[in-house]
Amino acid sequence: LSVTAVVPAAGIGTRMQAGKPKQYLEIAGKTILEHTLNALMAHPLVNHTIIAAHPDDTILPTLPFYKKSWLSVVQGGSERAHSVLNAVSTLPETAWALVHDAARPCLSVDDIGKLLALMKDESVAGGILATPVRDTMKRAHPTKSQIVSHTESRESLWHALTPQLFKAGELTHAIQAGLTSGTLITDEASAMEAVGHQVKLVAGNPANIKITHPEDLPLAAFYLSQLAQ
Ligand code: C5P
Repeated sequence: LSVTAVVPAAGIGTRMQAGKPKQYLEIAGKTILEHTLNALMAHPLVNHTIIAAHPDDTILPTLPFYKKSWLSVVQGGSERAHSVLNAVSTLPETAWALVHDAARPCLSVDDIGKLLALMKDESVAGGILATPVRDTMKRAHPTKSQIVSHTESRESLWHALTPQLFKAGELTHAIQAGLTSGTLITDEASAMEAVGHQVKLVAGNPANIKITHPEDLPLAAFYLSQLAQ
């Protein structure tokens, strides 16, 4: 049994205001992308990684891991779902794909292991790392966006993280169906749910943040230093 990691990295990361895609910012002397790849490849069952890169990406080919035999690169698309589709559709139908954001370097090998345990669970199509919502959740008014409409129950609400683990064939068909029907696909699970697959929630470490805003960088540096201990 083995798994291929799929890393969508074709976004341009405008919310970081960094002048380059966020996965190429450095923490402790390495790009965020290199930390992310190291985290994925640290699990013994992950034997290959496919990166979906922006067609104009000139930084990726200069990075130290670019020529490694465990790495291949496909062209990303206009949205995350297209980038993931371009990568997973190159895999055999029955291969397991572990899709993980380039911008989530603080992933622990324990969390990967918890998710990969689902490969033996025939009651579900796959699953995702997630954390229960902590704060009280407010729904904003539909037209007055700064005014509370009502409070949502947080009882059964989770934050969806990555990695997300599915069979490459089922995920490919689900994303194709979602793109055709106009379903909102912001992660792999949303495409799988929309075509009726059972997706398991696996409680993961909240340190596995997606670097989105500049203030996330020192936090990620702290979590990475903790993981290294
Ligand atoms: O923008 P956001 O933080 O949601 O992006 C999540 C991940 O999806 C990032 O790693 C980003 O590079 C990737 N992405 C992509 N192709 C796009 C848009 C985003 O691979 N067209």
